[in-house]
Amino acid sequence: MNRLLFWAVILCPSFVQAAPVSIIPEPVSVVSHSGTFSLSEDTRIEYGQKELKNSAEFFQSYLSQFYGLTLPLKKHLKLRNLSTSPVIVLKNNQREESVRGSYQLEVSEHEVMITGDNAEGVFYGIQTLIQLLPTSVSSILELPQVSVQDAPRFQYRGMHLDVGRHFFPVDFVKRYIDFIALHKMNVFHWHLTEDQGWRIEIKKYPKLTKVGGCRSGTQIGREPSDGIDKNPYCGFYTQREIKDVVKYAQDRYVTIIPEIEMPGHSSAALAAYPELGCTRGPYEVQRTWGVFNDIYCAGRESTFIFLQDVLDEVMELFPSPYIHIGGDEVPTESWHQSPECQARMRENHLKDEHELQSYFVQRIEKYLNSKGRKMIGWDEILEGGLAPNATVMSWRGTEGGIAAARQHHDVIMTPSSTSYFDHSQSKHETTIAIGGYLPVETVYRFEPVPADLAPDEVKYIMGAQANVWTEYMPDASKVEYMIFPRLSAMSEVLWTKKENKSWDDFQIRLKDQFGRYDLWKVNYNLKGIKDGT
Ligand code: ACM
Repeated sequence: MNRLLFWAVILCPSFVQAAPVSIIPEPVSVVSHSGTFSLSEDTRIEYGQKELKNSAEFFQSYLSQFYGLTLPLKKHLKLRNLSTSPVIVLKNNQREESVRGSYQLEVSEHEVMITGDNAEGVFYGIQTLIQLLPTSVSSILELPQVSVQDAPRFQYRGMHLDVGRHFFPVDFVKRYIDFIALHKMNVFHWHLTEDQGWRIEIKKYPKLTKVGGCRSGTQIGREPSDGIDKNPYCGFYTQREIKDVVKYAQDRYVTIIPEIEMPGHSSAALAAYPELGCTRGPYEVQRTWGVFNDIYCAGRESTFIFLQDVLDEVMELFPSPYIHIGGDEVPTESWHQSPECQARMRENHLKDEHELQSYFVQRIEKYLNSKGRKMIGWDEILEGGLAPNATVMSWRGTEGGIAAARQHHDVIMTPSSTSYFDHSQSKHETTIAIGGYLPVETVYRFEPVPADLAPDEVKYIMGAQANVWTEYMPDASKVEYMIFPRLSAMSEVLWTKKENKSWDDFQIRLKDQFGRYDLWKVNYNLKGIKDGT
């Protein structure tokens, strides 16, 4: 520090430059004041109610992990002596009528006060506080004095991850959940079963992971492929690991929605238990990408018994109110050829295989509902008649979502043109991607509520989600490269009020966000930004 700056700091502490107020997603209101709050080892964290301990610990561990600062933490009930050291106070106002996630944050000279209207709100106040920290590491962190009022626009703010095409270890899944939480998002859609691998331990059917969790090789390069390697590729999560991840997510107000794909994308399950397919096999865990004809046999009762058993274990592991059952990309050729499926269609007066798929999905929905859970499916579940209580995830565009909302069904918007993070971020992409071009600006400009919905239909749009299909993401580093910085743009789509969004302003704040990515050691993609397109 030069001498002039030294004396300026001693005589006038507010001279110290604080981090700029640059928050993603942009809050409802931010009022800056002059002066700073100095956060150091002498700062205490106090929380008013026991349900806030997880939020206090999240902040404590963030400071320790990224700044090497260990702050004491305690539950406080008594009035504090204001002359004591600086303090960060967390309080839950328990306003039942408020939007879930609302909070106020006041940073003054000696105190940071985060008041949530509910416990989630306090957690999101912590995320904003984190963004007031400078990104350069030092033993005294100067935060700007500021007043923030905030609440989310949508209640469903999701990120998906396909662990079937490539498998990601628990440590990365937790890091991914942290990314979700740091962006004030609240759903992790865990795509756990695929043609290329079954990734969740099911005790009653051990071959699902023993056989279905391994493929004998993997497609090399992009379609049309340069062949298939001969490296066995295996991986699955034990039930113990899943319980640990669910708890980790709960502490961050992230709901994990598990997806068990049916009736399609089920080659791995059929390879393990060939009697589940109409031809009875043999089947293989797929080594290439695409859509396959090997699907669960809808004509056989044993298929439903198997799926109900699997779902029983899934529901035991995941407290989520929603279970995702896939339902996308179902080639019904094997049903067309199957005498059992054709008999089922005659008995139930189903005119075609679309209606047989609808019968299949409706049976599963009835089962889930009987256990107190709600079903989500990709938009193909509209074909042949929507199950009575289903929530639709609209991916082939917005049409499925519009049709479902018009039938008064809840909708999650994930149109591929704005929400598929397996598409390239840059026109000059050098790594392999699935195709398509989705720059960060297009994500930012995504509006989840379709303009042509009537006012009374808008309420069915619960929110939106980005999907991360991992055919061309063999490791965690590539996943990060594909999700950043688009995840930051998506968080603003989902959290920030429409009238508060500005692409120009977002680009300025994104530069500060890059500082946070650096702190987190994230492999982010700058090419899309540099394209200027
Ligand atoms: C999907 O992308 N097949 C839902």
